[in-house]
This record gives sequence, structure tokens and C-alpha cells, in this order.
Amino acid sequence: MSQKKIFLVFVAISTVSLLLHHGGHLSWTMEAFHLGCSTLRSHPSPGLKPKHTSVAFLKTHKTASTTMQNLLFRFAERNNLTVALPVQACGHQFCYPRSFTSHFVHPHTLPPSIITSHMRFNRAELRRLMPNDTVYVTILREPASMFESLFSYYNQYCQSFKRVPNGSLEAFLEEPWRYYRPDEKDSMYARNTLTFDLGGDKDRPATDVAYARAFMAEVERVFSLVMIAEHFDESLVLLRHLLSWDLDDVLYVKLNMRTPSSKRSLTPGLPAKIRTWNSLDARLYDHFNASLWRQLASLGQACVSREVRLLRRAQERLMRSCFGGRMPLLRSAAQIKNKDLRPWQPSAKVDIVGYDLPANLSRETSGPAQEHCLKLIMPEVQYTRVLLRSQSLRYRRGHQQQSQPPQQPLRSVLPRHLQVGIHRSQSPPALPGPRPGPDSTSTPRPAAGTLSRTTRLGLRPSQAHAS
Ligand SMILES: *[C@@H]1O[C@H](CO)[C@@H](O)[C@H](O)[C@H]1NC(C)=O
Ligand SMILES: *[C@@H]1O[C@H](CO)[C@@H](O)[C@H](O)[C@H]1NC(C)=O
Ligand SMILES: *[C@@H]1O[C@H](CO)[C@@H](O)[C@H](O)[C@H]1NC(C)=O
Ligand SMILES: *[C@@H]1O[C@H](CO)[C@@H](O)[C@H](O)[C@H]1NC(C)=O
Ligand SMILES: *[C@@H]1O[C@H](CO)[C@@H](O)[C@H](O)[C@H]1NC(C)=O
Repeated sequence: MSQKKIFLVFVAISTVSLLLHHGGHLSWTMEAFHLGCSTLRSHPSPGLKPKHTSVAFLKTHKTASTTMQNLLFRFAERNNLTVALPVQACGHQFCYPRSFTSHFVHPHTLPPSIITSHMRFNRAELRRLMPNDTVYVTILREPASMFESLFSYYNQYCQSFKRVPNGSLEAFLEEPWRYYRPDEKDSMYARNTLTFDLGGDKDRPATDVAYARAFMAEVERVFSLVMIAEHFDESLVLLRHLLSWDLDDVLYVKLNMRTPSSKRSLTPGLPAKIRTWNSLDARLYDHFNASLWRQLASLGQACVSREVRLLRRAQERLMRSCFGGRMPLLRSAAQIKNKDLRPWQPSAKVDIVGYDLPANLSRETSGPAQEHCLKLIMPEVQYTRVLLRSQSLRYRRGHQQQSQPPQQPLRSVLPRHLQVGIHRSQSPPALPGPRPGPDSTSTPRPAAGTLSRTTRLGLRPSQAHAS
């Protein structure tokens, strides 16, 4: 009798545990099904795929790419990764619009894991410079709004735009060939800018369909992800999955925007004209917007929208913790008190907005936390200088520890192909100046030790200019 009881109890326990187990498993499966994607982790846990740390991000013009650059800079700093930065003679870009070569890379930033500053893409040179498992990423923007943005941003800088009477976009598009000179050094801002940045031929006629197809195929082959500015958060979700990064790694604040009054809406008919004038870019955009949505679909709509929601919520939390419950103040550059936060302005006519900190921020946060918050809203030029300074310090410390004579390291650390003609600048290039400001972009001061480099690269100051 008691044996029967024991048996019944055993059966009961087994059933319950089976139910519990099965139920737990069922709900886990349900959740996984519901998410449709790998669950988010806020802390790295062992056994998970390690984060991918070799990234080449081609920073295209006027495409929210500054926001991406800031995100990558912060990721690099958190993970002690080396970011390839331009030699000072190149300004804060890799001597754009010249085609990228590894000679443009500052020797204190070698060998790099990440590269993200403006350049004209050159696959062969990047392959020599970057680790062989580098993931290539770039970003495109809808051509009509992008061209309006370029036209306004470079209105006083690009000759093709300066010639247009009354700075009228309509007038330019009426007769583009009247104002546009394909061989002028700044002509890439006036036609197929994305194609040019990607290393393509911006002046290939629209009738050359074979060229457009081949170029697109090449971009598709090299870049693992082509983000779309209009779908920025969704693009970040794809990026996060591609690189096995955490949600925390893709938080951002929008940077380098114009004030609403500097923007204008396009009259009907204008977008079509812009697409015709920039036909290579238009093809690229349509192709990669379609492929972005295919990738999103294969990740699963539920997963994507859930991650986008979580991203925005985490972003709000970050802003609250950084800026004491208030958004940093969106201000035009001239009004920003903190020079480290003042964005560069292309001309008096365009108002680029940046952020100023709430006046009493310093009392609320301090130390590393505040620095982290400051960097979230630090403009490109200033952040580039800050990074170069810290990487140069790290480089020197590393070389002092090896107790080598001070003149040796520069030569010995350089890959062979970079050693050519380096003998004149044996002393390491000076650290960036203590007071970065918007002005310093337009005329990069060649510092001690880089003067010879300036001459060697054959740069005129004007070429090292403009973002
Ligand atoms: C980065 O380097 C610092 C100082 O060298 C060290 O304290 C920190 O743990 C490192 N962080 C990572 C993620 O490696
Ligand atoms: C990448 O580089 C590593 C070390 O530098 C090497 O061991 C590996 O074979 C390379 N992989 C490929 C695919 O070239
Ligand atoms: C430029 O503006 C002036 C004054 O607003 C106007 O008289 C002139 O016709 C305009 N020129 C063109 C080419 O639109
Ligand atoms: C990109 O493609 C998606 C899906 O086809 C479409 O809904 C969206 O409007 C496109 N975006 C733009 C800016 O054309
Ligand atoms: C910071 O300043 C804002 C507005 O000036 C004020 O409302 C807030 O209470 C201040 N916070 C602290 C912690 O002083």
C-alpha cells in the first residue's frame, strides 16, 4: 500500500516537474519566437560571440555619418582600440578629396582597428592598412534631400554653387552645366557625391548603364552593410547584429545638423531634377534601400521594431542620466559657450546646430561620467583632436617602456610602405593644439615635424578643408 503511495507521489512529482520543465521551455520558445532575434545583452557574458572590433566606416557627406563617426570613436575608446586618424597636414579628414592612401594616416595611430574619418574610398590601400577581418560599412541618404543639404552647406565654398545667381537651387538645376565644372577641385560636392566618396566616377553619363551596374556590384561586394540615413535606427539594428555589439554600443545623439530655418522644402518637380542630375547616386540609393529592407525582413519585423524601441528608450535614459533630466540645449554654433562643443560652420549663411551643456551640469555629474556625456555631443573636429592626443600619449608611453631612443620609434613602427621619405620628420608630430576651435579646420596649422610632410604630400591648405 505504502509502495503504491510512493509510486503515486513519484508519478505526481514527475508530472509536475515535466510540466514545469516543458512549460518553462515552452515560454522560452514563445519568447524567442516573439522576439524573432537573438536576445539583447547589456553585459558581455562568456560563451557569446565576441564583439567584432575591426571596422572601416566610409564616412560619406551630409548623411548622418558624423553621428556614426562619434559612435565609433566612443566604441574605440571604451575598448582601447586604435582609430586611424589623419596626419595633421590632412586636417581632420584623410586629405579628401584625394584618393585615400596609407600615407595620410598619422603614425601614432598604427596599426588601426577602426577607421572612420572622411576619405575618398580606396579599397586596395585600406586592405593594406586594416586587419584582414575588417568589416566595411557605409551610409547613403536619399539623393534629393541630400543634394539640397549639400547645396546649402557648401553654397559659399563650392565654385559650382557659388556661380549660381541668388544661390538658387532651381537656377542650378535648370542648367547645371552652365555652373558645374567637372574638373574643379571641389566639384564632387555638386554631382554624384556618394559615388565619388565611394571611389567611383561621378561624371559617367547616365546612359552608361553597364558602368552603374558594375559599380553597384562592387560596392555590394566590399561593404557588408550599407546603412540608410532615413532609416538610421533600423540600420543600427543591422549593424549591431553584424558586429555582435550590445545595444549600449549603438546609442547616439544626432550631430552636425542645420537649424530648421537653414533647411528648405523642395518644390514639386525638383526631386526628379536632382535625381536626373545625380543619376548614379539615385541608382545606388534605390538599390541599397531595397537591400536594407530585405535584410530587415530577414531579421524579422518583430525583432527589428522591438530593438528600435529599446534603443530609443535606452537613449532617453542616457540623456536623463547625462544631462540631468533635460536635453542638452540645441543651440546654433555661435551661441555655444563651450568651445569644445562648437561645431564647424561652412559659411555665415548656414546655421549648424550643436549642443551646449545645461549650465549646472558639472554639479550633477563629474569625472569619467561627465567626460562620457561630453563626448556624446562633441563635434567631429574637436573629438578627432582629443583622440589623436590620447593615442599619441599611449603610443609614446608604449615606446618609452621599450626604452628606445626617442628618435627611433617613428621609423621602426611604420610598415615598410610608409617609411618612404619619413626621415625629415623624425621627431614625432606635435600634439594637437590645446584650444581646438571651428576656425582651425579651415587652415590646419602644420605643426613642428609635419611641415616637411605638408610639402611632401603637395597639399595646399584649401585641400585640407571642409567636411
Ligand atoms: C583599457 O585600458 C585601460 C588602461 O590601460 C584599462 O584600465 C582598461 O581595463 C582597458 N579596457 C579594456 C576594455 O580593455
Ligand atoms: C589574417 O591575418 C592573420 C594574422 O595576421 C593570419 O593568421 C590569417 O591567416 C589571415 N587570414 C586571411 C584570411 O588572410
Ligand atoms: C536675383 O534676385 C533679384 C532680387 O531679388 C532679382 O531681381 C533677380 O531677378 C534674381 N536673379 C535671378 C537670376 O533669379
Ligand atoms: C526605402 O524602401 C522602403 C521599402 O521598400 C520604402 O518603404 C521607403 O519609402 C524607401 N525609402 C525611401 C526614402 O525611398
Ligand atoms: C539646474 O538648473 C535648472 C534650470 O536652470 C534647474 O531647474 C535645476 O533644478 C538645476 N539642477 C540642479 C541640480 O541644481
